[in-house]
Amino acid sequence: MGILDHHKVLEKNATLLLIGALGVVTIGGIVEIAPLFYLENTIEDVEGVRPYSPLELAGREIYIREGCYVCHSQMIRPMRDEVERYGMYSLAAESQYDHPFQWGSKRTGPDLARVGGRYSDEWHVDHLTDPQSVVPESVMPKYGFLLDRELEPTYIGDLMATHSVVGVPYTEEMLDNAVADFEVQVDPDGDWDGLLERYPNAVVSNFDGQDAVTEMDALIAYLQMLGTLVDFSTFEPDASR
Ligand code: HEC
Repeated sequence: MGILDHHKVLEKNATLLLIGALGVVTIGGIVEIAPLFYLENTIEDVEGVRPYSPLELAGREIYIREGCYVCHSQMIRPMRDEVERYGMYSLAAESQYDHPFQWGSKRTGPDLARVGGRYSDEWHVDHLTDPQSVVPESVMPKYGFLLDRELEPTYIGDLMATHSVVGVPYTEEMLDNAVADFEVQVDPDGDWDGLLERYPNAVVSNFDGQDAVTEMDALIAYLQMLGTLVDFSTFEPDASR
């Protein structure tokens, strides 16, 4: 009897075939899934990547709430047209503190992974308030109402603590200073040394130009830091990964 004759037995018995198929799928599944449990080995540590500052994190919540991800990805693929348009391709480490991540390929609008610092705060206010005023052919909706919605840091400490449960390395010091850091990031006259120590490269600015802290401030703080944490003039990709 050749090996194929053994296979006939499987093919003629539905239950055996089912058990056999289950076995094959299980082995295949383990091979694909097991490496994900060792993710620390696959994401290289990259200098500069840090958890979001409280205000940035609040802005990120607004980004998700408003569904910006429906039209914008945050993942520059290593293809020439993308790298020339958006800049250095995205590194896994750059979204390692994203819960949930904002990758994707649905781009009704441009990729935003490196939009930080590309435009002024005023441009963002104008653009978010009325995208067609700066890009006449834009199909982006208007988000001017964010200017009128004041943002209280009541729950920001809880939100950060929640993120630390899923692995974002917020320290005790960061959690203790959550509210103060949130408030000082929109106050260029304030004492923001501690903020910058805890969150290097955070942009301190009165983003929307109003006295109150609004959802617009938080959203722009988030947009202005996207893709700016890693210094690519000194970064060397590790080819062994
Ligand atoms: C219906 C799809 C759609 C949604 C939803 C949307 N956008 Fe856009 N966005 C666009 C399009 C199209 C453009 C390109 C034209 C323009 O600049 O307005 C764009 C451009 C942008 C730009 C400029 C990017 C660049 O590199 O020039 C930013 C920043 C931006 N959007 C942020 C946001 C934010 C933040 C939200 C959520 C509050 C959002 N968008 C929601 C479609 C969308």
